[in-house]
Amino acid sequence: MKKKVTKAIFPVAGMGTRFLPATKSVPKEIMTLVDRPLVQYAIDEARAAGIKEFIFVTSRGKGALEDYFDHAPQLEQELRKKGKDALLETLKSTNMESGAIAYIRQHRALGLGHAVWCARRLIADEPFAVMLPDDVIAADTPCLQQMVEAYEQTGGCMVAAMEVPPEKTSSYGILDVEEDMGSVVKIKSMVEKPKADEAPSNLAVIGRYILTPSVLSNLNKMKSGAGGEIQLTDAIAQEIGKDNGGVYGLRFRGQRFDCGSKSGFLQATVSFGLARAELRDDLARYLHEVVALDKAGQ
Ligand code: UTP
Repeated sequence: MKKKVTKAIFPVAGMGTRFLPATKSVPKEIMTLVDRPLVQYAIDEARAAGIKEFIFVTSRGKGALEDYFDHAPQLEQELRKKGKDALLETLKSTNMESGAIAYIRQHRALGLGHAVWCARRLIADEPFAVMLPDDVIAADTPCLQQMVEAYEQTGGCMVAAMEVPPEKTSSYGILDVEEDMGSVVKIKSMVEKPKADEAPSNLAVIGRYILTPSVLSNLNKMKSGAGGEIQLTDAIAQEIGKDNGGVYGLRFRGQRFDCGSKSGFLQATVSFGLARAELRDDLARYLHEVVALDKAGQ
């Protein structure tokens, strides 16, 4: 029987330079979509998929992230006193069980693969998830849950995959597909950031993974790859074709926002704002006005 996926690694040690100067003092993962920090969306998605242990790989300057996960008894007491029950519930829903979160330091930003490797001692002989909180996914069934369900059928490693236009392949790891089974594809190789005419498909890997512990052994042996960084993709690629394993991609159902980029972050803000009943009308009216003004000015 396949072991259940109960641990997730959240690599959040990057410098977030695309959001400078904000990220001088605010970790990117604490930046807010409507009223929830990016990391809360990732935690909610992980919990829905059955994750019980949350491992954050952090770096200098990420104190606000650790503070965010503290319980806030005084604040709860104030809200209770004032009868603000809905807010109290919202606040309590973010409380994490004591001991469920671990923090590991990545002392130098040597890449995503290295960040995952830093958490190796907290993963025993079991599959684990990796989630990048920059990738926020709006979906009826949370993306990681879809992956866990698919993984229960396939085993091996699984990456979340989405179709991208040809001019975007050079920003992603792209899948070379051996067998297309509909939503799940079996992978024969992965190409890091290919130009449009060299891309084996338009299926791009985004920031959700279910990995076998052998990926950690591969990382153990690895020297830095492209750009001096230790690439997670290279360590996953070494699992391709292995018996009782292999690497699969899941075309998940949902909309992914790249909140590591300014444009993606703004689009997510609008989309999540419009999804909230109390904000929808005001926001939609404002957007119509702005678009009309913009058109008139052209
Ligand atoms: P990015 O490539 O988005 O880098 O990392 P970044 O530093 O966060 O942002 P920019 O490009 O400077 O604006 C993708 C994910 O991998 C993590 C990041 O925290 C982010 O979640 N990461 C990256 C690490 O944890 N360690 C690293 O050495 C590199």
